[in-house]
Amino acid sequence: MCGIFVSACISSDKSSCAQLEEIQAVLKDQNAQRGPDAQNTVNFSIPLDKSAKETLLVSGSKERELVLQFYGSELRLRGSRQVIQPHLRDGDILCWNGEIFDGLQIEADENDGSKLFDMLCSLETPQQILDALSSIEGPYAMAFFHNRSKHLYFAQDPLGRRSLLIHLPRSKSPYFLLSSVSAGTHPGYVFEEPSTSSIFYLDIGSWRVQKYDIVDDFNRVLKSLPRGLTPTTATEFKIIPNVNRTLPPDDITLAASLDIVPEYLRSSTDEFIKQLDRSVKLRVQNIPQLASGKPKLAVLFSGGIDSTIITYLAHRHLPLSEPIDLLNVAFENPRKIKGNVTGVSRKRPAKDKTLEVLHNDDFKRYKVPDRMTGMDEVEELRRLCPGRIWNFVEVNVPYEVCQSARATVEALMVPGRTVMDLSLALALYFASRGQGQIRKSSDFGPTPYTSEARVLLNGLGSDELLGGYGRHRTAFETGQWLAVINELQLELDRIPTRNLGRDDRVISSHGKETRHPFLSLSLVSFLASLPIHVKMDPRLPPGFGDKMLLRFACRQLGLVEASSRKKRAMQFGSHSARMDGERRGDVALE
Ligand SMILES: *[C@@H]1O[C@H](CO)[C@@H](O)[C@H](O)[C@H]1NC(C)=O
Ligand SMILES: *[C@@H]1O[C@H](CO)[C@@H](O)[C@H](O)[C@H]1NC(C)=O
Ligand SMILES: *[C@@H]1O[C@H](CO)[C@@H](O)[C@H](O)[C@H]1NC(C)=O
Ligand SMILES: *[C@@H]1O[C@H](CO)[C@@H](O)[C@H](O)[C@H]1NC(C)=O
Repeated sequence: MCGIFVSACISSDKSSCAQLEEIQAVLKDQNAQRGPDAQNTVNFSIPLDKSAKETLLVSGSKERELVLQFYGSELRLRGSRQVIQPHLRDGDILCWNGEIFDGLQIEADENDGSKLFDMLCSLETPQQILDALSSIEGPYAMAFFHNRSKHLYFAQDPLGRRSLLIHLPRSKSPYFLLSSVSAGTHPGYVFEEPSTSSIFYLDIGSWRVQKYDIVDDFNRVLKSLPRGLTPTTATEFKIIPNVNRTLPPDDITLAASLDIVPEYLRSSTDEFIKQLDRSVKLRVQNIPQLASGKPKLAVLFSGGIDSTIITYLAHRHLPLSEPIDLLNVAFENPRKIKGNVTGVSRKRPAKDKTLEVLHNDDFKRYKVPDRMTGMDEVEELRRLCPGRIWNFVEVNVPYEVCQSARATVEALMVPGRTVMDLSLALALYFASRGQGQIRKSSDFGPTPYTSEARVLLNGLGSDELLGGYGRHRTAFETGQWLAVINELQLELDRIPTRNLGRDDRVISSHGKETRHPFLSLSLVSFLASLPIHVKMDPRLPPGFGDKMLLRFACRQLGLVEASSRKKRAMQFGSHSARMDGERRGDVALE
């Protein structure tokens, strides 16, 4: 995805701003990785009014100005022409890291950022800007400077699907930074993720230089506009909806098997397939063809139910002649290799072993749970989708390679810093890089292959929306249906703060972007509106009752094997977790 970076030194003290210049350079480098196609910087200075008090104290001193620096890097995925960021016209400036999939008509040859820029430039008030943002659907993080009002806006979509980090001025680091990604921990900044439940703006026009406490001055001009509280006309994509709290009827029957959709689930199953299909379609159509003959789409593919159903639906919307890459990652985890839970060394094959044995050896080393289900599932897809070439990309990560990437991945994760952040981030980092091998058929040996697809589909979100976690079952055991409803509400509320920002920072570092069909606001609203017993049934066993609606949908589409696979977290399925020892996932890394 694109990288955006905005900075301003708010102090008139030269040495404070010297530190900023160094930080600008490293953060631009980091953001350039996200948008390898074009980069640009725009400086814009705004004269600041002096307060009456300061005029008295320092009369004769030079007029102060605030220099805003805007940087954008572009990963080209929309429209027929190359767009260079930041978008710029008459002093209005937009840094856009996002995709508009719905709410605003974008033709195949148009660029969504340019179109949004036209819309934003024509508006005046913060409320109008909020309304405009509430009318579009898609992942985004953006910064927009509106010259007439001297407002610098910044915001993310309500679900927080794109990374945005903010550093607020402090006395030792008196500058303002917004960036898609950090350069790891650094004494010159403290990055956090801003809330997605508001849009923010700096009311630079009202800035009065008080001279004594610049940090205080700054805090006075930083304003927030909560998405949910203000009255507004456009509402469709404004906020995350609430979960339906209707309890099931007392006589709710148990579904007998996945083979027959019970009467009470029929219309919901059909509607769910329709909505998920539309979400996938909006995310796979119109991807520009950059290298001819190469796949444009890849899927983070474990062979589980979530990644399989979106893969199958993507197949329905892409020409049959276009191969699709299925990225399947496996880690060499010395603690998992049989008979050894202590050491890190592994047996090297003796020099005289044949190639065949070498392959077998490799095969065993990377025989992780997700590899096994992935290989089974790709066969099911091949049966169901004759004529399509599926490139099942075995991404094998040797222990040493994983160790040497660790520092890079830890830097990308910031501010994420737990053991679980790292094991997930490593899995996503290597999977999305797409370097591995494919096999023409199971009889052939592997050949090296690198996926160059820039768009990666990710099946994240179904567990949160449809009740796929073990904790939903536990909630039922302790508090019946009401507890499950409460748990699903919590789950939904947590989506923006959990890990989407981290995942975006990690994956985008390869100049690729991830798209989440389950996390479109229309699909989220639809699923939230369904009563709980339509989505799941905690009385039924795992592999059936958890995210039951998805299982029926999968079965109806013909994905029989996928429909009853049990949930497996990526870090365990790929063996990226517990590489060096048993540590709890929520513990901070040293
Ligand atoms: C923007 O300003 C910085 C100094 O703050 C300068 O180094 C840089 O060259 C300027 N860039 C442009 C494009 O004017
Ligand atoms: C920005 O707005 C000011 C008035 O507020 C105007 O004087 C200036 O020309 C505008 N900048 C540009 C580049 O158009
Ligand atoms: C197990 O780990 C130890 C310690 O690193 C090592 O010396 C030994 O060779 C390993 N054993 C196997 C079977 O890999
Ligand atoms: C919740 O589900 C019930 C039962 O299907 C339905 O009648 C009601 O309209 C739903 N409520 C909302 C807010 O969607």
